[in-house]
Amino acid sequence: MKRLLLLTSVAVLGAGVARADDATLRDSAKDFFSAIPAPAAPANEVETARVELGSMLFFDPRMSSSGLLSCNTCHQVGMGGVDGLETSIGHGWQKGPRNAPTVLNATFNIAQFWDGRAPDLAAQAKGPVQASVEMNNTPDQVVMTINSMQAYKDKFAAAFPDEADPVSFDNFANAIAAFEAKLVTPGAPFDRWLEGDDAALNDQQKQGLELFMNEGCSACHNGVNFGGQDYFPFGVVEKPGGEVLPEGDLGRFAVTETAGDDYVFRAAPLRNVALTAPYFHSGKVWSLPEAVHIMGAAQLGANLEAGDVDAIVAFLQSLTGEQPQVGMPVLPARAAGTPRPEG
Ligand code: HEM
Ligand code: HEM
Repeated sequence: MKRLLLLTSVAVLGAGVARADDATLRDSAKDFFSAIPAPAAPANEVETARVELGSMLFFDPRMSSSGLLSCNTCHQVGMGGVDGLETSIGHGWQKGPRNAPTVLNATFNIAQFWDGRAPDLAAQAKGPVQASVEMNNTPDQVVMTINSMQAYKDKFAAAFPDEADPVSFDNFANAIAAFEAKLVTPGAPFDRWLEGDDAALNDQQKQGLELFMNEGCSACHNGVNFGGQDYFPFGVVEKPGGEVLPEGDLGRFAVTETAGDDYVFRAAPLRNVALTAPYFHSGKVWSLPEAVHIMGAAQLGANLEAGDVDAIVAFLQSLTGEQPQVGMPVLPARAAGTPRPEG
């Protein structure tokens, strides 16, 4: 139906490529996607304190047992929210099993991780601190570290003023989640186009958008985050080889233990995807055109030709938004009682 609508209302471009006019294309696009709203300023002093505290904790390597790894090590805020590695390197130089997804716009995802095993950002933040291949710490040690520095205790008291015992592992996670909720990237060329600026996308990008919808990518990659809202098998039509889809990682099956959930993953959010190579949960694919080609074959049974792949990639590049301007927080100096780095 959508396809029919687009084909009956096409403009012929100089290059001889026929595509829908902006108004028709925008109308179709609005059925699938929405623009990222500008982040709301903190509502009050408490929220301001919470976001500031979250930023400190996000950047503080002393939250790891080695004193070396912070959240930012694997989710570089200045690098699209990723580490740019195939799979992350954590405690003791261990290589983890999966590629680090971006923290930018993660607040829009239905659940966190490639398999959606954490329901929200606060629940998620408790994972890496304790994971032996990531920060290798314990909740008690994190709380002890925080409590050893008076400046942190003051910040927790300001951020959680109604609580008798503000320094807790739960509030460590709550503060980080409040900070992450501000890591959004509005103002992408696509968003400006969606809101009415015809010139924000070039012709190739508009062609790519049209293909993205007509080929069926938007069936899974939609909403404000172009994904992150539902789960699908990786390999609906044709399972990629073990090089891209390692056999040992069953994805959502490990969470639900339900038959049919093997090799099911959350549709990857595609906001800022031009900044977040390498691709897929395995991190095996370094080129975006190659990732698009693999998706076409694996999910849709389509052998996309080079020109179409290029147009889709040009469109995906229009999803790069304004990157959050986050200053490096000044962290409290260690005190006599601050646990020393281990291992
Ligand atoms: C996943 C935040 C530390 C590597 C995630 C996600 C978030 C996040 C929000 C899910 C994003 C999504 O599903 O779209 C944090 C925070 C950290 C932290 C707040 C500090 C408390 C680290 C560290 C590493 C790391 C130190 C590397 C050693 C990863 C990996 C995943 C992930 C590999 C994907 C894991 C999977 O899907 O199974 N992180 N992260 N993270 N992070 Fe982190
Ligand atoms: C991942 C694009 C169609 C479901 C990806 C990625 C890209 C992409 C670039 C990697 C993102 C990253 O690693 O950060 C496309 C394009 C499509 C398309 C251009 C159309 C040609 C689909 C369809 C589905 C789907 C139709 C659902 C049936 C997924 C899933 C992942 C993913 C589940 C995560 C795979 C993993 O576990 O690594 N897509 N996609 N995609 N896409 Fe698509």
